[in-house]
Amino acid sequence: MIAPSLPRLILSASLATIATLLTSAAPITQDPCATLGGLNTTELTYDAVANCYRAFTYNSEIATKTLATVRTIFNDYYIFRDSALTPDLQAPFSSAPVDIMNVLDLIGQKKYQSDYEFHNDIYKAVQSLHDAHAGYSVNCYNAYLFAQPLNLYAPVVDGKQSMRVFVDLARRGYEDCEVTTIDGVDALSYISKWSDSLSYSKDSGVRQNQALATQIFNYESEEFILSSGEFAERATLPENPYVDYVLQCGTTADPIKLRENWRVLPLTGKGFSNMDTYLSNVCYPPKPTEQPSNMYKRELDQPVKRQLFPVARKSALLDATPSPSTLPAQGLAQAVQMGHGNATVWYTLKDKPNVGVIVVSTHVAEDAELDVALQGLELFSKANVTNIIIDFQGNTGGSVAFASFLVQLFFPSTGQLDTSLRSDLRVTKSIQDLSTAAFNVSEAGLYDAAGYIDLGTKQLYTNDDLFLQSVPLTRNGRETGYTESTTLQPAILPKIEALASYPWTNQPNNIRILSDGRCGSACALSAHYLHGKYNVTAYSIGGVRGDNLSIFSFAGGAVSALHDINKIYAANKVVSPMEDLPYEGDIRVPILEVYADSTDVPLEYDASKYPANYRMDFTPENARSRDVMWTQVATHAWN
Ligand SMILES: *[C@@H]1O[C@H](CO)[C@@H](O)[C@H](O)[C@H]1NC(C)=O
Ligand SMILES: *[C@@H]1O[C@H](CO)[C@@H](O)[C@H](O)[C@H]1NC(C)=O
Ligand SMILES: *[C@@H]1O[C@H](CO)[C@@H](O)[C@H](O)[C@H]1NC(C)=O
Ligand SMILES: *[C@@H]1O[C@H](CO)[C@@H](O)[C@H](O)[C@H]1NC(C)=O
Ligand SMILES: *[C@@H]1O[C@H](CO)[C@@H](O)[C@H](O)[C@H]1NC(C)=O
Ligand SMILES: *[C@@H]1O[C@H](CO)[C@@H](O)[C@H](O)[C@H]1NC(C)=O
Repeated sequence: MIAPSLPRLILSASLATIATLLTSAAPITQDPCATLGGLNTTELTYDAVANCYRAFTYNSEIATKTLATVRTIFNDYYIFRDSALTPDLQAPFSSAPVDIMNVLDLIGQKKYQSDYEFHNDIYKAVQSLHDAHAGYSVNCYNAYLFAQPLNLYAPVVDGKQSMRVFVDLARRGYEDCEVTTIDGVDALSYISKWSDSLSYSKDSGVRQNQALATQIFNYESEEFILSSGEFAERATLPENPYVDYVLQCGTTADPIKLRENWRVLPLTGKGFSNMDTYLSNVCYPPKPTEQPSNMYKRELDQPVKRQLFPVARKSALLDATPSPSTLPAQGLAQAVQMGHGNATVWYTLKDKPNVGVIVVSTHVAEDAELDVALQGLELFSKANVTNIIIDFQGNTGGSVAFASFLVQLFFPSTGQLDTSLRSDLRVTKSIQDLSTAAFNVSEAGLYDAAGYIDLGTKQLYTNDDLFLQSVPLTRNGRETGYTESTTLQPAILPKIEALASYPWTNQPNNIRILSDGRCGSACALSAHYLHGKYNVTAYSIGGVRGDNLSIFSFAGGAVSALHDINKIYAANKVVSPMEDLPYEGDIRVPILEVYADSTDVPLEYDASKYPANYRMDFTPENARSRDVMWTQVATHAWN
């Protein structure tokens, strides 16, 4: 890793200036995007990116079009528009009410100087909902990744929680030095406040986990590797060009003051040589040449798979740092890996051979993953495993069907509707027109009533009444139209004889959930079933010492992107009330909500369903060796 040097920047800036002089007689104008475009990857700096981003003046045409679309998707499709107004959410949530339409209207009235500021305000408004299903990003201002070499965590040592260095990617050996301050502020308070800007969860402890470094399983190298966390690695422009840290390494040494620049990595492969080509190549969508996609084709035996970002990813600087000697966990000393698929990894504990561990790192899974799971359970059974830990840490979801199948492997379905949750969607005139045209056709996404169960008849809908008979619901004083209660066509596993012979099947006492609260979307549905419905005891690790911590986050329901909704309109020849965004990018909102049994509070906002039975502390040992963490859970649960 070569720190970009100042003289080089000045040199290329002056070269760009000379080029301007040579090619045109116009007065010398600085084009910051020309400077940025002329840098190679190792020369990128915070300032170079910031200057290019901030060079574009506010463009009222782009702003007006953008805001019109953002307003409509939040006003008419976003299922939590009125739930988001809920005041005083109970612990473990700590999340203020948001009147998203009002916030968007204020953005519409504000005078902006720069285009970046306008888009960044929309981004921040959507983040403030603390729902990772909702997102706004444009490639124009998410074109680079910013990374800090210090990756932090917040372990508890000698009964006290502190901010410490998990990994120093610059290889100065600062691991486990205490970080006393960040930018002059107490480090724990700083990260706690900073992580409140993250959308990831309504629980501030989970947001802290999302901000900090952790380990994720890497299927290529078959081991746990570093994930930097959102504080140390982000696609949005950081507040400042550097971060100041004060480290205390050991109790007697002098404090170390560090000023760490952001390392900058490009996220798009798109070249540009000035502001004009930055706009056309990076900001605007490519000219439409692609074939219409048929990704909404619904196969009869396979419910639609829905996926989600942001995915926990391996630290980008790992690739830029050849074989860092300081990296934790090359293999696990106390666990034996029995095998893996593309979404699950299977271990037994050496010292507790009756304990099996299933790491479910994602719900983005093919049907073949079920064969992996059945083999894994069979191997557990042959190894005389009686107790199982299901480790959901860092799982951001995927297929709703996989969420249900996974639960049925432990608690086989006994009736048609015990594997699905009561749900509803918003209804407007335009959604009614769409659903009428889209009834029982392949490209209908979530707007095809034929994919839902009529809870009166317990059969699939045979007409579009679900959407045509809108039900008014009042939430936080605002009334709007929803569908009647329904549920998606359940995904039911065929009867599997072997399951009945396993000692853990239908036995919550033989199963434990382990999470860090970062089990989102489809993962949240699995966790809710196991814990909330089948009474499986859950442990969550990390967060803030003394506070309860969620098992899962953004249980919401089902998410859809603007692109996807507009493709459904187009495929069914109904005019969408939303134009695509002028810039290449994405808006996502949850459009279907689910409820736990016997309550009218959507699961997304039902704080009582979130806390784990036990919160565990990260320690320098268990944060680096997952087997140590599993042994702690097994000892607490079954000794
Ligand atoms: C990028 O810059 C580095 C450092 O100056 C230099 O060594 C390297 O050759 C350059 N790479 C390219 C592709 O220009
Ligand atoms: C895992 O992914 C590979 C590559 O896409 C695929 O060939 C394989 O079938 C997948 N395995 C499972 C269990 O889904
Ligand atoms: C499992 O238990 C059976 C019966 O007690 C025993 O015969 C067998 O060796 C055990 N298998 C393993 C892998 O420990
Ligand atoms: C939906 O379409 C399928 C085949 O295209 C047909 O067999 C089925 O009866 C239709 N269902 C309804 C409710 O119209
Ligand atoms: C759930 O599990 C706990 C702990 O094992 C037990 O005390 C409780 O009675 C169970 N509740 C239900 C409803 O089964
Ligand atoms: C954690 O949850 C338990 C059970 O709901 C409750 O009794 C306790 O007061 C909570 N602790 C905190 C710090 O909120």
